[in-house]
Amino acid sequence: MEKFIIEGGKPLKGEIRVSGSKNATLPILAATLLTDGVCEIRNIPKLRDTLTMCKLLRSLGKTVEIGPNKVVISGSTNNHVADYKLVSTMRGSFCVLGPLLAKLGKAKVSMPGGCVIGVRPIDLHMKGIMALGVKADFDAGYVIATASKLKGAQMYLGGTFGSSVLATANVMMAASLAHGETIIESAACEPEIEDLGNFLSGMGAKIEGHGTPRIVINGVRKLNGISYKMGSDRIEAGTFLILAAAAKTDILVKDAHYNHLLALVDKLQSIGVDVQKDGADIRVRCKKTLKPGNIVTHPHPGFPTDLQAQYMALMAITPGVSIITDRVFPDRFMHIAELNRMGAQIRRDAGVAIVEGIKQLYGAPVMASDLRASAALVIAGLVAKGKTEIYRIYHLDRGYEDLDGKLTGIGAKVYREKE
Ligand code: EPZ
Repeated sequence: MEKFIIEGGKPLKGEIRVSGSKNATLPILAATLLTDGVCEIRNIPKLRDTLTMCKLLRSLGKTVEIGPNKVVISGSTNNHVADYKLVSTMRGSFCVLGPLLAKLGKAKVSMPGGCVIGVRPIDLHMKGIMALGVKADFDAGYVIATASKLKGAQMYLGGTFGSSVLATANVMMAASLAHGETIIESAACEPEIEDLGNFLSGMGAKIEGHGTPRIVINGVRKLNGISYKMGSDRIEAGTFLILAAAAKTDILVKDAHYNHLLALVDKLQSIGVDVQKDGADIRVRCKKTLKPGNIVTHPHPGFPTDLQAQYMALMAITPGVSIITDRVFPDRFMHIAELNRMGAQIRRDAGVAIVEGIKQLYGAPVMASDLRASAALVIAGLVAKGKTEIYRIYHLDRGYEDLDGKLTGIGAKVYREKE
C-alpha cells in the first residue's frame, strides 16, 4: 500500500485539467452489456474503479481492450453471474443488474453491501426492476433475478433521501430493451444520468427526459455499438475549485463543466471567491479571507454530497462558524476526526457538522477513509503548515486520475511512498 506525503504551504498556481467522469463511465461501461456491437469509449479516466468495471465486463463474456484513456468493448454477454469479489469492491458495479436482465433474461449479482459513507440500500433498484416484470429473490448475499420478458411500466423512484442515481441507471438500461413504454418519475437528474441517456440514445434507444425528474423510454428490440467520448468529471473539477479557494490562489480548471457545478459555484461566490466561466474552463481567483457559509447537500442540482468533505476542509480554515448537513448520506462524516488531527475544530451533533474555522491547519499523519474524504485531506494537507502523510491512498486512486501528477503541475509538493 502507498501513502501520500504532502509538504504543505507551497504556493499553487497555473492550470489543472479535469479527467473524464468516473461516475458517468461506470454505468456507461455496464450499458455495453446491452449490445453485441463494438463500443469504443474515449476520455475514460484511468482509475481503479474503471479497471474493476472492465474486469467485471470480461467476467460476463465481453472482450475489453484497454488503451490510453480509451476502451474498446466487443463480443457477447454470455454469463449472468456478477461475482462478490468484483461487486463488493465497488458499488457502481451493481448497475450490471439491469443490462444482464435485459440481455439474458436472468442475473445473479452480488449485493454491494454497506460502506464507510453509510448504509447503502438497494430497495429502489429492486422496486424499479421488479416494476418491469422481473422476479427477484435474495440468496447467500446475491440478488437472483429472472424475467421471461421485460415489460415497460410507469414507476415512482423517489426514496427517503431523494432520487437514486444508480437505481435510475439500472432501470433506464433494462427499459431500453423492454417491451413498451417505461416512465420513471422522480428519476435522478445528475449529469451522469444525462450522459448515460445520451450513450443509450447513440446505441439506438428511444429515450427522452434524461437529466430531468421524468424519463420516458420506449423499448427497442436491439441496441447497436457506438463510439462515444466521456464528458469531464464534475466532482474532480469541484475539488479543484475548492482547492483554489483554500489555497487563496488563482487556478484555471481546464475542461470543467460550469453548468454542472452551479450549486458549488454559487456557494463559493457567496463566501467571497471569484469564480468565472472561461469558455470550456473555470477560472477561480481567491486572495482574501473568506466568510463562513453553511451547506446542505441534496441530489442534483443541489450541493453534491461528493463535495461535502472537500468543502468542510475549506470551512475548517475559514474563521467563523459553518454548519454542514448531508441529506444524501447523513453519516458521511468520517473525515471530521482526521481533519481534527490536523488542528481543525469540527464537532458532529446528530446529523450536522459544526465547523469552527481557524486560521491554520498543521500537518499530521492521517487516514483516508473513502474517496472524497481523502480528497478533503489532500486539500487540508496542501494548505497546512508542515508535513502531512495520508495513509490508504488507494481510495484516491479509485476516483482521481494522476492526482499527485496534476497537483505537482500547479506547484504542490506531493509524492508517494510505500506505507
Ligand atoms: C452515486 O451512488 C455515486 N456513485 C456516489 O458517488 C454519489 O455519492 C451518489 O450517487 C449520490 O450522488 C456512483 O455513481 C458510482 P444513490 P449511488 O443511490 O447511486 C439512498 C463517489 O464518491 N438509496 O443516488 O449508489 C441512498 O442510501 C460516490 O464517487 C436508497 O434509499 O447513490 C442515499 O441516501 C460515493 N435506496 C440516496 O438514496 C436505494 O435503493 C442516494 O443514493 C438506493 C439509494
